[in-house]
Amino acid sequence: MTGAQPFRPGADAAATATPARISLEGVTKTYVTPRARVDALGPVSLEVAEGEFVVLAGPSGCGKTTLLNLVAGFEPPSQGEIRVDGKEVAGPGPDRVMIFQEPALFPWLNVLDNVAFGLRQHTHLSAAERRAIAEHHLELVHLEGFAQAFVHELSGGMKQRTALARALAPAPRVLLCDEPFGSLDALTRERLYAEIQELHSRTRKTTLFVTHNTREAACLADRVLVLTARPARIKRVFTVDLPRPRDFYDARVSALAGQILAELRSEITEDRGTTHERDKAGP
Ligand SMILES: Nc1ncnc2c1ncn2[C@@H]1O[C@H](COP(=O)(O)OP(=O)(O)OP(=O)(O)O)[C@@H](O)[C@H]1O
Ligand SMILES: [Mg+2]
Repeated sequence: MTGAQPFRPGADAAATATPARISLEGVTKTYVTPRARVDALGPVSLEVAEGEFVVLAGPSGCGKTTLLNLVAGFEPPSQGEIRVDGKEVAGPGPDRVMIFQEPALFPWLNVLDNVAFGLRQHTHLSAAERRAIAEHHLELVHLEGFAQAFVHELSGGMKQRTALARALAPAPRVLLCDEPFGSLDALTRERLYAEIQELHSRTRKTTLFVTHNTREAACLADRVLVLTARPARIKRVFTVDLPRPRDFYDARVSALAGQILAELRSEITEDRGTTHERDKAGP
């Protein structure tokens, strides 16, 4: 894996680690279980540029999480190759970090220690350095006043911001987000859209971000990839060149979200059609 340099307070956040380029070439994933064989993904070929924010949208169960898991190195692809900066992904590594729908924080640690936990592998850092890096990342997500709070004392949005700070603290080069705002209320999500845009403009972290929310996709993305029903393939690409920061309720964001939604709906309808045909043809 590519070595990631941890952030040093005092330097600009953009200097934490050079963002990485990701490439997928003919990638497929088939899960084989004792009961079934599931073609979950692909073939997918994709180039994500350094610092690019790519959103994946697709029908439920189409293979979005599978794609993120493969880039994270949690699972190997069945076919094809995944490279980060030209180096084949052969397993998880500190250069890639995943953020999930439910922030997996430790209830027995306070907020600061949860964030510092992300730095546990950086054994060359002293405890004081780890603490300073964690504090800096809490500031980045506007949680500096909650360093000593415990997880049960946080709102859902604050938990997700803590998870974001923990993910960013070790200066990964790629951020993989699997519906990170999916369980939050609408108002909290809208605040986080502004924060995530600010964070992205400061860190330029190469990001793959899964969502079902088309307005969220239009608000955040450089590119939105609409995926087909399972096995996920790239059905349509929307390049988004609206100026940033984008307002969630901007008319141009709404118009684009409408187009993405139409594309998704057509995929879901087509998929139902296929299933129906298959059902009719069944024994
Ligand atoms: N470990 C696994 N073993 C067997 N099948 C799996 C495994 N993980 C995922 N699948 C199957 O692969 C397909 C794609 O799953 P995946 O979780 O990637 O979809 P998704 O697009 O993320 O769905 P959602 O939008 O509901 O989160 C599904 O049919 C799922 O049942
Ligand atoms: Mg999923």
